[in-house]
Amino acid sequence: MPSILEEIWPPFALHVEVGPLTLRLMRDEDLPELAEAAEAGIHADSLRPFPRDWASADATTVGRDLARRCWRYRAGLGDDEWALPLVVRHEGNIVGIQGAEARHYPALRTPDTFSWLTRSVHGRGIGTLMRRALCVLFFDELGAHQITSGAYADNPASAAVSRKVGYRPNGGKLELRDGLAAEHRRFVLDPADLVRPEQIVAISGAAGLRTVLGVGDPDE
Ligand SMILES: CC(C)(COP(=O)(O)OP(=O)(O)OC[C@H]1O[C@@H](n2cnc3c(N)ncnc32)[C@H](O)[C@@H]1OP(=O)(O)O)[C@@H](O)C(=O)NCCC(=O)NCCS
Repeated sequence: MPSILEEIWPPFALHVEVGPLTLRLMRDEDLPELAEAAEAGIHADSLRPFPRDWASADATTVGRDLARRCWRYRAGLGDDEWALPLVVRHEGNIVGIQGAEARHYPALRTPDTFSWLTRSVHGRGIGTLMRRALCVLFFDELGAHQITSGAYADNPASAAVSRKVGYRPNGGKLELRDGLAAEHRRFVLDPADLVRPEQIVAISGAAGLRTVLGVGDPDE
């Protein structure tokens, strides 16, 4: 009988560390601090970075929404379509989420990144560092061929992070946002273009994640 949680669900063993940041699969005990980080504010009222405005709701609604999504994503990891939201800690404190979603990953190997940070830490390079770390995880440990991202045209911070990580523009189209059409721009990153962090990205526990995602070790 497996005796520890990581043996039952290996992605819990994933640990990514770069400079002051750590990225890990969300655990239930992270939820209150994660909800607090979201509820403290993710964006200015004038900005609409998400397809629906989930982050402006009251604390209870934001917390429940995060919980339901994290549990659903956790259970669906390794299905034909999945999402991997990693909780980001800065000097030990939860500051947001850096994640990726994918369809038919073992064949297509093209995850699409998403992220948010609590507003009080914006503009300090954390968004760039956590995206670079996730790209290192996917290219070096999970065998990604390309990584994509997207942002509404009126979200320059997200586009700036993509540019600084090495993605190139890859078209765009109108998408629904709060029920209205909004221009959504796409970005794509090739492994050779990744601007790696200056600090070492220390990754452990990727083998268990590979098992669940159905991919082999890229070094073998
Ligand atoms: C996107 C996000 C994760 C970026 O995190 P961050 O830690 O603030 O990003 P960084 O500090 O690493 O870099 C931000 C870059 O955007 C640039 N930027 C920020 N606002 C900008 C603006 N209005 N116009 C142009 N560039 C802007 C900054 O200048 C910086 O680039 P620089 O270092 O070359 O100066 C964060 O802003 C966030 O959570 N936003 C709300 C949620 C969101 O938009 N998520 C993405 C959905 S697609």
